[in-house]
Amino acid sequence: MPAADPYPVLCLLRSHLESLAANGQRRLWLTGEARQALKEIVRLKPRPWPADRVTAPAAMDESPVPVPVPEQNVVTPPAVAVSVPAVAPAPPEREQETIPEPMAEPASFLNSAMNTDSTPGLSFDSDSDDSIPGPDSTAASPQSELTLEEKETALAKVRERAEEGQAARALGTLRDRMVFAVGTPAAEIVLVGEAPGSEEEKQREPFVGPAGQLLTRILKVMGLERSQVYITNICKYRPAMESQGSRNRQPTVKEMASCLDFVREEIRIIRPKVIVALGATASAGLLGIKTGVMSARGKFYDFEGIPAMVTLHPSYLLRCEQGGPEAANAEKRKVWEDMMQVMERAGMPVSEKQRRFFLPK
Ligand code: URA
Repeated sequence: MPAADPYPVLCLLRSHLESLAANGQRRLWLTGEARQALKEIVRLKPRPWPADRVTAPAAMDESPVPVPVPEQNVVTPPAVAVSVPAVAPAPPEREQETIPEPMAEPASFLNSAMNTDSTPGLSFDSDSDDSIPGPDSTAASPQSELTLEEKETALAKVRERAEEGQAARALGTLRDRMVFAVGTPAAEIVLVGEAPGSEEEKQREPFVGPAGQLLTRILKVMGLERSQVYITNICKYRPAMESQGSRNRQPTVKEMASCLDFVREEIRIIRPKVIVALGATASAGLLGIKTGVMSARGKFYDFEGIPAMVTLHPSYLLRCEQGGPEAANAEKRKVWEDMMQVMERAGMPVSEKQRRFFLPK
């Protein structure tokens, strides 16, 4: 165990223990040697996260941000049973930083590709020459060691626990119907939103209402179907309101915290190439971003070794449309620039036509 560099090890260990605990495991078999090492690292003082791997703090609990750990590093077959420590020592608070990544050249205006009306100008035709081959949904993500079947099984377990939703239901401020996620466990891109709204609750599927339809169009511009990505929410239940009707509200910090483990688990299972945090709520909940989403957007943050892009929420883009097409297009252009970065990170080619979509004719 590298005593000179305890913090990353601590994070790896914590992440692994959390995963085991999340899957219902309460006891762990360790060799005497592993047990000794565990005692030593739990005693070690935390140190700052290595400078080349800065991670935004987890928003809800300020706990250390875990990173993935290969199974064989920690668990060793039968010897002595020890109980899993609940929490590792907290590291000092770290500054948010981004993985440096130049912004795409700003376009001078956005055409109507993402408009809610279907203005001509862009082809969303999947048969067009410029359609982008999406990820192969039959294969497990190359970054993950789990097979597709294993991912499906693991996600089904998370879904069951989310359906039970003990912490969320105990709050008494969320509605009853759980809305989990949609898409493929083989996704190379995972998109994380805020909470289901009225349409999502009815259909039990994230992002199917007006904001969802806009998100689906954005994905199309990227060359992706909904079935080729994985879409989930930071809060799995629609936040309740008096005389609610079709009105929706943002989840509170407690409401998000009650579901946060589920979404973290989903991402750990899928291990996509890129995460997209849609809007301030998802960015705060998942990545601990406390600055405004406007200043945070357009950059990659780190979620357990996976680059996570922060961008604007489609609901915000819809609200901008009320200010007229120019104002809305300026905001949509920002999202498109962010999404082109996402495509590049996911290893998807960005065609010249796609780059030009948003340049002046
Ligand atoms: N907004 C979200 O953040 N998530 C949904 O599922 C729908 C709208």
